[in-house]
Amino acid sequence: MISSDLDRDRIPGHIACVMDGNGRWAQQRGLPRTEGHTAGEQALFEVLDGADQLGVRWFTVYAFSTENWRRPVDEVQFLLRFNEEILLNRQEELHERNIRIRFIGRQDRRVPRRLVRRMREAAELTKDNTGLTFTIAFNYGGRSEIVDAVQRIVDSGVRRVSEKTIARHLYDPEMPDPDLVIRTSGEYRVSNFLLWEIAYSELVFSETLWPDFRKEHLYAAIKEYQDRDRRYGGVGEADGDPGTLG
Ligand code: IPE
Ligand code: IPE
Ligand code: MG
Repeated sequence: MISSDLDRDRIPGHIACVMDGNGRWAQQRGLPRTEGHTAGEQALFEVLDGADQLGVRWFTVYAFSTENWRRPVDEVQFLLRFNEEILLNRQEELHERNIRIRFIGRQDRRVPRRLVRRMREAAELTKDNTGLTFTIAFNYGGRSEIVDAVQRIVDSGVRRVSEKTIARHLYDPEMPDPDLVIRTSGEYRVSNFLLWEIAYSELVFSETLWPDFRKEHLYAAIKEYQDRDRRYGGVGEADGDPGTLG
C-alpha cells in the first residue's frame, strides 16, 4: 500500500489511534513489556509523519488510559517517565514542523507534577502553530471525560442541557469528532477511548502490533475508511455528517 493509492480528496480530517500491542510485541521477543513501549515510539512518530504528509489536520493517540493504573507499578512508573521523555525529546522538532500539541485527560494527583508541567510547556510552546494538531490522551477515560463535563455543567448552574452543551464541556471543545479510529493488535474494543466523540467514527482494526505499525499500515487503514459508505443514519453518502444536535 502506498500513499498514491489513496483518494486525496477524502483524507480523514481527524484520525485517532489506540496504540495497542506493545507488551505482546516484546513478549514475542523474550523482552520485558517495557521494551515494547520503547519500540512503539518509532511507530508513533512515523505514523504522525505519514498523517501530516497526507494533510490530516487532527491526529490523536491514546497514550495512557484511566484503567492503565491497574498495571504493575514498575510498568506504570516506566510509562510516566517514558511519556515525559518523549515530550522533552520531541517537542522542539514538532514545534519546528508547525505541529500543535494538545492533551486530553484528567490531571489528577496520580499524574506527577513534573509530567503535568511538561505537558503544559509543550502545549504552550506549540499553541499558535497552524499545522496538524497532535493530541495526546493521557490519564484519559471516555467515561471520566463525560463525568467531568457533566460536573462542570452542573457547577455552572445551567438548567437546559443539549448535545452541544456536553460537547462544549469536553476536555478539548475545539477537537472535532474523529473520522477514523484505528486500533492495532487485533483487539476489537474501544477500551474507554473518546466515547462521546466516536458516535459516528469509522472503526478500523488492524492485526499489526503497534511497534510494527508503519506508514503503509496507516495508508491501508485510510483505504479501508475510504471504501466505507458513511451514512449517518441516512441512506447514502449525500446525507452528510449530522454534527451535534441542539
Ligand atoms: C499499548 O500496549 C500501550 C499502552 C496501553 C500504554 P499494551 O501495553 O497494552 O500491549 P499489550 O496489549 O499488553 O500487548
Ligand atoms: C488501551 O489499551 C489503552 C491505550 C492504548 C493507552 P489497553 O491495552 O490498556 O486496553 P485493554 O486492556 O486491552 O482493553
Ligand atoms: Mg493492550
